[in-house]
Amino acid sequence: MTAAIVGCPFSGGQPRVGVDQGPIHMVEAGLVKQLGELGWEVKFDGHHQFEEIKAISDPPIGKLKNPRLVSGVTRAVAEVVGGHAKKKELPVTLGGDHSLAMGTISGTLDAYPDACVIWVDAHADINTFESTDSGNIHGMPVSFLLGIGSKIPEFSWVKPLLKPERLVYIGLRDVDAGEKRILKENNIKAFSMHEVDKYGIGKVVEMALDHVNPERKLPIHLSFDVDALDPSVAPSTGTPVRGGLTFREGHYICEAIWETGLLVALDLMEVNPSLADAASVKQTVTVGCSLVRAALGETLL
Ligand code: ARG
Ligand code: MN
Ligand code: MN
Ligand code: MN
Repeated sequence: MTAAIVGCPFSGGQPRVGVDQGPIHMVEAGLVKQLGELGWEVKFDGHHQFEEIKAISDPPIGKLKNPRLVSGVTRAVAEVVGGHAKKKELPVTLGGDHSLAMGTISGTLDAYPDACVIWVDAHADINTFESTDSGNIHGMPVSFLLGIGSKIPEFSWVKPLLKPERLVYIGLRDVDAGEKRILKENNIKAFSMHEVDKYGIGKVVEMALDHVNPERKLPIHLSFDVDALDPSVAPSTGTPVRGGLTFREGHYICEAIWETGLLVALDLMEVNPSLADAASVKQTVTVGCSLVRAALGETLL
């Protein structure tokens, strides 16, 4: 089995510098070797630089910040991820901010049109051109993938390949009012921290899979934003929200998805090594690597 590490040092989907260093720190922490020790053949030929995409002039479109840059980078990521997936390699994309998932999920759906998406996050990242307040595109990738909201010519390459019934969220706790309306209108299933508290993580993952993958036969794309974890577990991230998943709850999700045998692509996003003190950075990078290992088959026994 081959895993392809897609390192994406990219921060254009949000305003805080440093999230582009996340993938570099995770690889420096030994992720390639760790996956090798799990029995994977690991492909990693350096981080993607996207140098040619850094547009000369990129004024906002409406509220959207860095729209051409985000579009160009995510389009390139879609090519890379889709290419690995078509070769039956498992793309492991390290972010970088979560706008990158516009690319990773487009790539997955290109290779596996019937894939479902499990989005683990404190946030729904489903704002549209109309609903976004911040204009940060890392809060918007899901709406582009679903094809909801105004069409922006600069993003015309993003095909609305994701069906609302093939998407499920786990870990939500900071959802904008406009996003709540979008979730309801589109009948999108979401398990917030309230449901994690009520049912326990084991039951929540089972219900999430029953929703998107009732017969357990569709390929799975897992998009994991490290801010789904509680800030006490993963402090170094740009938009931390208290009341998040514990260390074990986060790992349980990864382990349970690995156990299905259906994982075809993984994202680990929003690790920002420039936020918080050195010990917190090390803790967050270490947790990021350990979530990736859990999703790629590391077991406790
Ligand atoms: N909902 C907010 C926004 O649209 C926050 C999004 C945070 N997203 C993230 N990928 N960390 O700006
Ligand atoms: Mn550094
Ligand atoms: Mn996110
Ligand atoms: Mn988030």
